[in-house]
Amino acid sequence: MAEEMRIVLRNYGKIDPLKIEDYINAGGYKSLAKARGLSQIQVIDEVKNSGLRGRGGAGFNAGMKWSFSYNTPADQKYVVCNADEGEPGTYKDRIIMENDPHTVLEGMAICGYAVGATKGYIYCRGEYPYVVDVLNKAITQAKAQGVLGDFDIEVRMGAGAYVCGEETALLESIEGHRGEPRFKPPFPGVAGLWGKPTVVNNVETFANIPIILEKGADWFKGIGAPKYPGTKVFTLTGDVVNKTVFELPTNMTIRDVVFGMGGGVAGGKKFKAVQIGGTSGGFIPESMLDTQVDFDSMNAIGATLGSGAVFVMDETTDLIDVIERITKFFEHESCGKCTPCREGTKRMHEILKKINSGKGSGADIAITERLGQVMTRACLCGLGQAAPGPVLTTLKNFRPDYNAKLG
Ligand SMILES: Cc1cc2nc3c(=O)[nH]c(=O)nc-3n(C[C@H](O)[C@H](O)[C@H](O)COP(=O)(O)O)c2cc1C
Repeated sequence: MAEEMRIVLRNYGKIDPLKIEDYINAGGYKSLAKARGLSQIQVIDEVKNSGLRGRGGAGFNAGMKWSFSYNTPADQKYVVCNADEGEPGTYKDRIIMENDPHTVLEGMAICGYAVGATKGYIYCRGEYPYVVDVLNKAITQAKAQGVLGDFDIEVRMGAGAYVCGEETALLESIEGHRGEPRFKPPFPGVAGLWGKPTVVNNVETFANIPIILEKGADWFKGIGAPKYPGTKVFTLTGDVVNKTVFELPTNMTIRDVVFGMGGGVAGGKKFKAVQIGGTSGGFIPESMLDTQVDFDSMNAIGATLGSGAVFVMDETTDLIDVIERITKFFEHESCGKCTPCREGTKRMHEILKKINSGKGSGADIAITERLGQVMTRACLCGLGQAAPGPVLTTLKNFRPDYNAKLG
């Protein structure tokens, strides 16, 4: 696969993930040693200058996030790896952790050194018991070899709530509370776990860190899209020939993803739409396939890069049926803490059910649009804010599909 570029997945299939010696022989833990030879600020600056932005969905500059924790004095600081991966169609973090757990541990330990944290947690999706096992074995081996120094890492398992991938709900869950989002600010970098400065980064974000320290910020900055440098790991599902995982520089296009790596639409059928970024991602028509897959280019067309989940739909797909199921998902997963999300997701599902059953009217479409706009602006966390995305983008890009269902 000529276009693929493996940075995060550099050890995939090449080492035995259950043997720390393999990782060390491949150059592993050298970046942590190198980081410890630098000042904390030098490490933070290297990550900041690399331009690495979070791979969990929000796209925030990782080094900048680390600097908030570094600059907040506290007797205890934490590093949290978000491995909740509850997004339907996303399995990139599982692939990274299953195949190269030490690169995630090393990334976390480098972060711990940089910000002054001695404790790390990996919050792993509860449906990934095998991954939890791999991570625990890797931690045990790293501790036995002494490579982590005074940095301790513990794995915590989620219990199946989608909202617990949201960073503050995740922190509540680690603390033993019900997984509900907190008001922000303060952001976790300043007041996170038990009120202490806490860096929360995604698995893929941490997996980029060792190689950035090894090869330098300038090397990383030169790859992919200038404002969202590096690579992105994508997972392909739906009506596509290759349902697989791969890593591409971020200046590739959606067409490269679906037709290049994905091999195009399965069964010789025509393309209808692609949803990128998971359940809350926008629905993209054929006319937008030449958009670059970097964070900002995706936002510019009203879509999201999100977690990098890519769901392809062929010409036979009933889009409104798909949208109805998505609204049901959000109704089910809304934690209920804020009214716009608790009520909004429920009403949105009701209206979509009505439209999908052929009983909807133009007035229902107008109210759906209005409700979506209100939720985007009024919901407390990203779950409710992003939930209307699929509805709003299909209303914009696939309006005839709605019109065809009206009673
Ligand atoms: C409903 C919801 C679910 C989320 N799920 C995840 C997830 O599974 N993994 C993840 O890394 N980030 C997830 N996020 C984003 C996190 O809140 C946060 O932005 C991210 O962990 C920060 O890491 P990053 O800067 O490395 O991307 C989710 C956000 C929301 C609103």
